Amino acid sequence: MFDRMKEDIQAIMARDPAAKSSLEILLCYPSLHAVWAHRLASFFWHRRLKLVGRWISQAARWLTGIEIHPGATLGRRFFIDHGMGVVIGESAVVGDDVTLYHGVTLGGVAPSVDSDSQRGTKRHPTLLDGVIVGSGAQILGPVTVGQCARVGANAVVVSDVECDTTVVGIPAKVARKEAREQAQFMPYAQGAHISDPVLRELAATRQAMLKLQQRVESLETERQGGLPGDTQGERLTLAEEVRSEDSQKAANG
Ligand SMILES: CC(C)(COP(=O)(O)OP(=O)(O)OC[C@H]1O[C@@H](n2cnc3c(N)ncnc32)[C@H](O)[C@@H]1OP(=O)(O)O)[C@@H](O)C(=O)NCCC(=O)NCCS
Repeated sequence: MFDRMKEDIQAIMARDPAAKSSLEILLCYPSLHAVWAHRLASFFWHRRLKLVGRWISQAARWLTGIEIHPGATLGRRFFIDHGMGVVIGESAVVGDDVTLYHGVTLGGVAPSVDSDSQRGTKRHPTLLDGVIVGSGAQILGPVTVGQCARVGANAVVVSDVECDTTVVGIPAKVARKEAREQAQFMPYAQGAHISDPVLRELAATRQAMLKLQQRVESLETERQGGLPGDTQGERLTLAEEVRSEDSQKAANG
């Protein structure tokens, strides 16, 4: 039991850049309290003491702002960052290493319509291992969100999401599909492609420069075409000058 508790704390430390110490996590992270309360609630729920389980879950909700139904199945190293307003329904299934942010719902599509026929059915989502769900996202119905998929903040997901895919918007649509090996955890689910803002800016500058080079090249070609005797090799074009300066800079580091 203590190993699992230690693992829960380590999972938060690994996934929240704001976390400073294990003691802070123990005292100040509602995710930890809600998940531990859920383990207790689930214990009673599955031993025919459903009301006790339900009551523990409700008490945890008062204390943490996170509502997890005792019938929900949670995997290991589950982390709900900030937590307030998260609702996890009775038949929801959450895999290992899943991260949710505040305001996320793993809910049914229309629980109030013909409720009797929905009792005891699978009506909530399944999140496979490594999924990250952004703040305010709503995942509705018995859909499956594939391994390492990411759901954008405020998205509404009503159909299955493939593994390693980022979906955004209402209804959620694919925004990006990344290779499995790139899909390691990034705090706040930011793209694994370039996470450093300075590198991102450099890459954008480089792209703009390449476009300019191409434009200058095509202008030079047009100009050469219009000047008889002005052949390639007789003079260095402006484009070549720009490119050679660029490669010199790259060589100098
Ligand atoms: C969805 C998300 C994971 C995408 O991050 P990313 O992989 O870096 O992708 P990008 O930022 O390059 O965005 C890809 C496209 O989706 C759009 N997009 C990103 N997030 C979006 C969102 N939540 N809703 C709608 N569109 C979104 C971008 O504008 C971009 O569109 P474009 O290609 O037309 O320019 C991220 O934006 C997100 O929502 N993370 C949740 C973070 C969160 O909940 N933080 C709370 C911390 S307290």
